[in-house]
Amino acid sequence: MPLLDIRNLTIELETPNGIIKAVDRVNLSINPGEIRGLVGESGSGKSLVAKAIMGILSDRWHVSADRLRYNSIDLLSLSAKERRKLMGSEIAMVFQEPSSCLDPNDTVGHQLHESLATIAPDVPFFQRKQWREVRIRQLLHKVGIRDHLRVMNSYPHELSEGMCQKVLIAMAIAYKPRLLIADEPTTDIESGARVQIFKLFKKLNQLNDVSILLITHDLEQIENWTQTITVMYSGQSVESGRTKDIFKQPFHPYTMALLQSMPHFGDKLAHKSQLNALSGCVPTMQHLPIGCRLGPRCPNAQRRCVEMPQMQKSKGHYYSCHFPIDYDEPNEKEQ
Ligand SMILES: Nc1ncnc2c1ncn2[C@@H]1O[C@H](COP(=O)(O)OP(=O)(O)OP(=O)(O)O)[C@@H](O)[C@H]1O
Ligand code: SF4
Ligand SMILES: [Mg+2]
Repeated sequence: MPLLDIRNLTIELETPNGIIKAVDRVNLSINPGEIRGLVGESGSGKSLVAKAIMGILSDRWHVSADRLRYNSIDLLSLSAKERRKLMGSEIAMVFQEPSSCLDPNDTVGHQLHESLATIAPDVPFFQRKQWREVRIRQLLHKVGIRDHLRVMNSYPHELSEGMCQKVLIAMAIAYKPRLLIADEPTTDIESGARVQIFKLFKKLNQLNDVSILLITHDLEQIENWTQTITVMYSGQSVESGRTKDIFKQPFHPYTMALLQSMPHFGDKLAHKSQLNALSGCVPTMQHLPIGCRLGPRCPNAQRRCVEMPQMQKSKGHYYSCHFPIDYDEPNEKEQ
């Protein structure tokens, strides 16, 4: 049974001009011990999906789903208190905007102490503060912070975004969650330390069986660190399956375009040559095209694309396209 099971997740926003569907019938599942990547251009709805799982979208958003389950718990039916309890113990998230997630009026050390306060370690009460100090030092070292005293005594605005991001990762793994949602976890971190963070995630995954939803623009990281991926475009999931299969043979033209936009440093690139990219940009939620949302940008678009393609399954992966690339066998409809 999947640890996280999402079926037809829809997220709508109430605006003065009517309701906007920012995420439209997205399916996503994560098995115990799996690392799934979630990719797509900016604005495709990746962070909204993560926030809907965490239950932290404001009342302006309306979240509905045929299924939104964590380990057989229906997340949509939980009260705010029950949800917070689950998020504090089983599911943790590293947010995309690190400094805005830390309290600007409090030192990082105090915030780390507070975030560990609800963990009851197997030590006498009077030794808990000391236990927390040791644990905080270990966590900060794990995420690559050597000068832990300086960081603990600092306020968030005195630290770089990358440093705040590392602190948030330390907080997220402190509880030893079963599911870690990491939304662009290394964007502001220097490249050498990025590998260390990904190695840490891999270790958590292998030794502690932590399942991970890794949201990133970085396809190289997706290829290196994930077992499965879901590709999103304009609020919809357009392709999903095993990372290695999709990197070898993507069916959806959007996935193909994403992969072609990856720089291949092994190939000889002429000086100042352009990387492959789809022309145009993601449509705004107010002006979605009729039928397939990729239509106006798709090199393979044909007349039939004015109908919205259904999700199909083939060779172990799912895709929604009337004219999949390199595929000429009859399609099997999604179960
Ligand atoms: N608070 C908000 N108010 C209005 N629209 C929003 C808000 N948050 C997100 N959106 C819209 O919802 C859509 C999806 O946003 P989301 O942040 O999930 O994208 P994303 O895939 O995470 O992008 P990025 O890769 O840039 O982080 C976008 O069109 C965005 O403009
Ligand atoms: S359905 Fe048509 S427009 Fe959409 S991705 Fe496939 S070929 Fe392109
Ligand atoms: Mg985002």
